[in-house]
Amino acid sequence: MTIGVPKEIKIGETRVSLTPSLCRRCVSLGAKVLVQKSAGLTAGFTDTEYAAAGATLVGAAKKIWAAADLILKVKEPLPAEYGQLRDGQTLFTYLHLAAGPDLTKVLLQKKILGISYETVEGADGSFPLLKPMSQIAGRLSIQIGAYFLQSQHGGSGVLLGGIPGTMPGHVVVVGAGNSGAHAVQMAAGMGARVTVLDLDTRKLEALDTEYRGRVVTLMSNPANIEAEVADADLLIGAVLIPAAKAPIVVSAKTVARMRPGSVIVDIAIDQGGCIETIRPTSHEKPVYERHGVIHYAVPNMPALVGRTSTLGLTQATEPYVAMLVKKGVERALAEHQGLARGVNTENGKITYGAVAKALGYA
Ligand SMILES: NC(=O)c1ccc[n+]([C@@H]2O[C@H](COP(=O)([O-])OP(=O)(O)OC[C@H]3O[C@@H](n4cnc5c(N)ncnc54)[C@H](O)[C@@H]3O)[C@@H](O)[C@H]2O)c1
Repeated sequence: MTIGVPKEIKIGETRVSLTPSLCRRCVSLGAKVLVQKSAGLTAGFTDTEYAAAGATLVGAAKKIWAAADLILKVKEPLPAEYGQLRDGQTLFTYLHLAAGPDLTKVLLQKKILGISYETVEGADGSFPLLKPMSQIAGRLSIQIGAYFLQSQHGGSGVLLGGIPGTMPGHVVVVGAGNSGAHAVQMAAGMGARVTVLDLDTRKLEALDTEYRGRVVTLMSNPANIEAEVADADLLIGAVLIPAAKAPIVVSAKTVARMRPGSVIVDIAIDQGGCIETIRPTSHEKPVYERHGVIHYAVPNMPALVGRTSTLGLTQATEPYVAMLVKKGVERALAEHQGLARGVNTENGKITYGAVAKALGYA
């Protein structure tokens, strides 16, 4: 099997899908590994390290796309890469197809076997390849929010932790899953007042037990959301309905009631976003203002910390990549149900129900 690792081209992306250590493992299992020159530099891995791990370094991305059976990436292919995808190729990466109708059409036309990191399932129904990036995005969301709350960055000038004698900032987190729980952890650690809302009472119970009253947990319903968001200095959107387009949980009317200079970080933007006034932004221009509120919605937040994110991502993908190399794609998918749940497109068809529904194919 030939594995291809093209350099990521999304704006500000710094991650790479393969470390020299994972490269060594793939080569030892019999794969040929093609890595684009300088693909790992932004994550702190040099071409020399890849060469020492047995990779062949290639200059042009198109040579990699043309030669590889399995393309290993981080982010979904962008329009500039659509033409490079080869008929029948296997693609293992984050795809987020519910928010990508154009990419879906290309994958179907070219009969790409599209295995999405984000829908690969653990034995307990969890999403092991989404988890590390969600943890990172959740943790980052608070430091990003704190930055944009600063007066010089257009914010309301609220210090999340406050000081004795002043009211700390109010952080409202909608969604208490992987990203939400890690946002809660950082916000509480900074001394903010924290409210977290979810539909799943088990998630709320776990946070209540962990923080023993330091964090307010609330059922997610329109009344609670309206009341809490109107008082928020920093609102974090962290909901997910697996593979589906994110539900809108905060209306434009509620956003308009927030104090001027407050900040929204919508982590769920990769699935379309969960705040009515949100639209995707990029690392080049990460924020815009609506109703006097600063909106941040970068779909690849983990790229801000390329080294940690690459290590976190590849430690999660390694067992699956090794399985694909060792058994071959067909057998690996036949024998591992959780990996097979990652398949979103195959032979010109969408094979994941929630994706098909979100895009109107079902
Ligand atoms: N922007 C980025 O860079 C980035 C990085 C990583 C992950 N993400 C995205 O962040 C989102 C969240 O991922 P996660 O791993 O935390 O998901 P998760 O499944 O761990 O948690 C999602 C939570 O949302 C809750 N939820 C669903 N509907 C809700 C509602 N109406 N109100 C309140 N809660 C609701 C669920 O009960 C669950 O607890 C996903 O879209 C994921 O792809 C984005």
